[in-house]
Amino acid sequence: MDKIRVVGGNPLAGRVEISGAKNAALPAMAASLLTADTIQLENVPYVRDILTSRKLLQEMGAEAEVRDDGTAILKAADIHSREAPYELVKTMRAAILVLGPLVGRFKKARVSLPGGCAIGARPVNLHLMGLEQMGAKCEVVHGYVEASTEGLHGARILMDTVTVTGTENLMMAATLADGETVLDNAACEPEVSDLAGLLRGMGAQIEGDGSRTIRIQGVRELRGCRHRIIPDRVEAGTFAVAAAITRGDVEIVNCCPQHLTAVLTQLAQTGAEISVEPNSLRVRGKDPIVSKSMTTHPYPAFPTDMQAQYMALMTQGDGSAVITETIFENRFMHALEMIRMGADITIDGRQALVKGRKPLTGAKVLASDLRASASLILAGLVAKGETWVDRVYHLDRGYCRIEDKLARLGANIERVS
Ligand code: EPU
Repeated sequence: MDKIRVVGGNPLAGRVEISGAKNAALPAMAASLLTADTIQLENVPYVRDILTSRKLLQEMGAEAEVRDDGTAILKAADIHSREAPYELVKTMRAAILVLGPLVGRFKKARVSLPGGCAIGARPVNLHLMGLEQMGAKCEVVHGYVEASTEGLHGARILMDTVTVTGTENLMMAATLADGETVLDNAACEPEVSDLAGLLRGMGAQIEGDGSRTIRIQGVRELRGCRHRIIPDRVEAGTFAVAAAITRGDVEIVNCCPQHLTAVLTQLAQTGAEISVEPNSLRVRGKDPIVSKSMTTHPYPAFPTDMQAQYMALMTQGDGSAVITETIFENRFMHALEMIRMGADITIDGRQALVKGRKPLTGAKVLASDLRASASLILAGLVAKGETWVDRVYHLDRGYCRIEDKLARLGANIERVS
């Protein structure tokens, strides 16, 4: 199994290109199930979750090609299976995203329940509640959600928690429902708006995406289209922290700084110098790194997907910072590994007290999820000696050759098979 070896100490400098957003490409691929026509996507990141999604579509009978130049060509003309099997869902929870499109177009779906994972329980009750309000019957049998309907109808659905994939699933299902669906307390993440843009290109009638209320007027059928996936804001944010933590100077191009307002504002408060252009940004790390507390919230606030990386930065702060995680109940596993590298972190429920000014030393560390893996690499970039990050498959789920991109910026990092 591959490992990443990092030797800390080099300030990063240069320019890095950001890939397309995994969390926008995954719902876009699922949306291809809503039509028999061809959907062509551009700027799709060539990462493990995308290949898993390709496999899932292919097993259902779709034609699905994903190229490493960022193009994906998808055609769901001949779907013979309406099932997402456990074997695929357990490696990629986002497979739940096929539920809405399958019920919407084929009136039937059987999708394995994802179960918990390294960051929390991650229920899908709101996905099911919404589909039921639209006229589907959802039952859990042998670990699978079995959903069926005579035909979905519009409904007013209030989600009591903001859920990204829940909003996406219901938005996709509603595009082919009879009448108007209103999603209240919807997620307004850029990935939701990107999906809405794709669906509109397919002929759907959607308004209000990007706000807490989304209105979808159902149509009889959708058609093919071409769509470009937005840049990955979490990858861009990860490189911004990499620049700050190494006191480097990095230009991050092909990104959308507008989607990173909360992250960049927070980084600026820690002393980093940030300049922003429409499609790029430059981060210059400064000494000292100022310790600043932070709380995660749904977009547009600071994202949970950047919490681990920010924690790595705070281990090098000049004082103490409290990091509060409000989205997932168990997303501090990286802290335990950072402590093994010499960090001073105390966890109390959903809060972590990070005391800075602690020199880190390289160690063998285990990543428990995608963003945790990235945060351990960031810690390794400033640790004395070698850090070995194990279970790199987590990293490969969502980052496109991060070690190559970091090496080009001057990091001493390699993948060891
Ligand atoms: N929740 C419920 N019921 C539901 C659905 C969600 O209670 O039916 C709760 C969850 O337990 C959690 C909160 O709602 O406490 C938010 O979860 P959400 O549903 O928004 O998460 P998700 O849609 O499963 C997506 C991203 C995650 C990201 C979260 C939060 C994709 C494919 N995944 O997950 O990305 O952390 O939103 O922003 O879009 C990652 O990329 O590393 C990653 C984990």
